[in-house]
Amino acid sequence: MALLFYILFLFFTFIQCRHLEKVPTWEQYKVKFGKNYLTINEENFRKNNYFNSLTKIVKNNGKNGVTLGLNDMSDWSDEEFFSLNSKSPSSVFVSARPTSTVNTSPFPKSWDWRNIIAFNSIEQQGRCSSCWAFAAATTVEAAYAHQKNKHNLHLSRQELVDCTNRTFDQHYLNYGCKGGWPTEAYKYIMDHGVYEDKLYHYTETFNEVCYADKVAHDKGHPVKYYISNYGRLAYNDTDEAIMAMLVTYGPGTVDIHGTSDTFRFYKGGIMRNVMPNSAYTNHIVVVVGYGTDSSGVDYWIIRNSWGKTWGEHGYGRLERHPNLLGFNNKYNYPIL
Ligand SMILES: *[C@@H]1O[C@H](CO)[C@@H](O)[C@H](O)[C@H]1NC(C)=O
Ligand SMILES: *[C@@H]1O[C@H](CO)[C@@H](O)[C@H](O)[C@H]1NC(C)=O
Repeated sequence: MALLFYILFLFFTFIQCRHLEKVPTWEQYKVKFGKNYLTINEENFRKNNYFNSLTKIVKNNGKNGVTLGLNDMSDWSDEEFFSLNSKSPSSVFVSARPTSTVNTSPFPKSWDWRNIIAFNSIEQQGRCSSCWAFAAATTVEAAYAHQKNKHNLHLSRQELVDCTNRTFDQHYLNYGCKGGWPTEAYKYIMDHGVYEDKLYHYTETFNEVCYADKVAHDKGHPVKYYISNYGRLAYNDTDEAIMAMLVTYGPGTVDIHGTSDTFRFYKGGIMRNVMPNSAYTNHIVVVVGYGTDSSGVDYWIIRNSWGKTWGEHGYGRLERHPNLLGFNNKYNYPIL
């Protein structure tokens, strides 16, 4: 069966004539992505998922303008992948913050915060639906870097996961490893500040308890990092508004539709025509810039938390204008 898929895959790759990377065998995939499985059952399950992923990659490669490829989540089942995006943070537009008013005076034709501040290396949220925590923390780190000259911060994603669960603290509406909103993380950082990751390390699970007080007690009240507020744009705001906020305040977060095969296996290029005006969104990423490629396609640059093997070394480009993946629906940013 596996061999059949492999032959089919080579065949399609040839026919489609797309610049797919050379297809690794299952053994090569395991080595390249550092996979070790404890049992034969596990290995068989993973192998099956791998061929399932290959089939989807072949089917969709080259569609929507992008190259698809394997990443370190390509041995996950559909169920595992979908549960990553499960508790859709989209149904409620939480937050009672006032909408920002935007000055749309001329701003640069292109922008890339990666050329201005140093970001942490791309992270892998793992099997925890904590994209919202990674995105919120990354934007706060960026704000500290460019507004306070405080570089190389790595704030605790785990504290946000553990301490904003709604059952644990009624002030917040998040669901631990089952999803959440960056605005709830911002609220927590306003109220309580957040520790650095080295004091409250990421474990990829919901700990059922918030250890912030314990860290304070055990470590003699180390520094916490606060924001004074956060802002958001109106629902489905314009590209110009987002560009202005991005240039003025630094990277912000957006909610997007993250479960299409194009996005799941995205390897490079500018994603086009994918789910324009999607009202449904289930994944959060950071916006770091925008630009226009040599053929005149305007794009956004996003930073994902699915490891370095996803996309363009963990980053992605998405065509700007038609609100693809619901990109324009909810833009949020921290204010120091
Ligand atoms: C967090 O809160 C939700 C909602 O109250 C609850 O159902 C859940 O068990 C808690 N833990 C996780 C991991 O979501
Ligand atoms: C966003 O606004 C445009 C027009 O301004 C509209 O056509 C589109 O349906 C809206 N999208 C959503 C997701 O509400």
